[in-house]
Amino acid sequence: MRQKLESIRNDALKEISVASDLSQVNDIRVKFLGKKGELTNVLRGMGALSADERPVIGQLANEVRESIEREIEQKMSVLREAEKLAQLSRETIDVTLPGRPFQIGKRHPLTVVLDEIKEIFLGLGFEIAETPEVEVDYYNFEALNFPADHPARDMQDSFYISPGVLLRTHTSGTQPRVMEKRAPYIPLKVIGPGRVYRRDDDATHSPMFHQIEGFIIDKNISFSDLKGTLLVVVRQMFGEDRQIRLRPSFFPFTEPSAEVDVSCIMCNGAGCRVCSNTGWLEILGAGMIHPNVLKMSGYDPEEVTGFAFGLGVERVAMLKYGIDDLRLLFDNDKRFLAQF
Ligand code: DAH
Repeated sequence: MRQKLESIRNDALKEISVASDLSQVNDIRVKFLGKKGELTNVLRGMGALSADERPVIGQLANEVRESIEREIEQKMSVLREAEKLAQLSRETIDVTLPGRPFQIGKRHPLTVVLDEIKEIFLGLGFEIAETPEVEVDYYNFEALNFPADHPARDMQDSFYISPGVLLRTHTSGTQPRVMEKRAPYIPLKVIGPGRVYRRDDDATHSPMFHQIEGFIIDKNISFSDLKGTLLVVVRQMFGEDRQIRLRPSFFPFTEPSAEVDVSCIMCNGAGCRVCSNTGWLEILGAGMIHPNVLKMSGYDPEEVTGFAFGLGVERVAMLKYGIDDLRLLFDNDKRFLAQF
């Protein structure tokens, strides 16, 4: 049995030394060490040995197995290395292959529109104020003349963080936040751009969107100042031949209040699909700041008056670029974004 083991070792090592590729080495492994391999067969016969011989032969068998395994491992790594070198010498690098182009990013269409609108208002002497997106009930509602159970709150169903703390439903909270800090300073000319949140989700509503609030407080501010300012802004935004139209409306924090339409930028007022054949597109809410709102935030409504307006930024972007589904603005699909 000892001789048999020695000759298995010799045979195996000899075969390994002349093997010339990985599959041959693998065959050798199966032939000697596999389930039906030669060494395995010998080991099966060990039961017939005497108790003295068994440990001696067992140890030898282990040595034989280990030396065969070691040789196989070594041979394989030599062959693998050789194969890699051969592959490298076959492959050549084509230095004329063009590189992958860098994709250059650009501003999101909403950012473009937002920046344009800010520029227009800066040009008119407004300052920019940013106020918190996580807002307390007081600035989002109370200070804007929405009492606790006022039905107008239903139009702005929101996401509450905790009782009395919510994701703001509009940027109108910019009014009391800024007034409170600056009263009784005049003239106050402020815009407050930013994200707002509502429980809404369809082709023209997203649970997160952007608004720009704007307001002026000074002596003798009248409704005609509101109308004149909005006309200038709309014309800078959509072109010099635009008209605006004001319709009576209701907001708790303005009195009187209006919805403001712009003559349709697609059909110029003739009537088309975009304006539902009315010739007009609604773009903002506005009005004269309610005396209660002025009073609550430290201004005397007998001394000063003011106007305010709120503009939807997505709405403007959709009109300017002819986008028919607002959700496209938030999908982050490069094929869409690359068009602007
Ligand atoms: N905050 C209103 C909204 O989100 C928009 C608005 C309407 C703002 C009239 C105003 C305003 O400042 O005067 O629906």
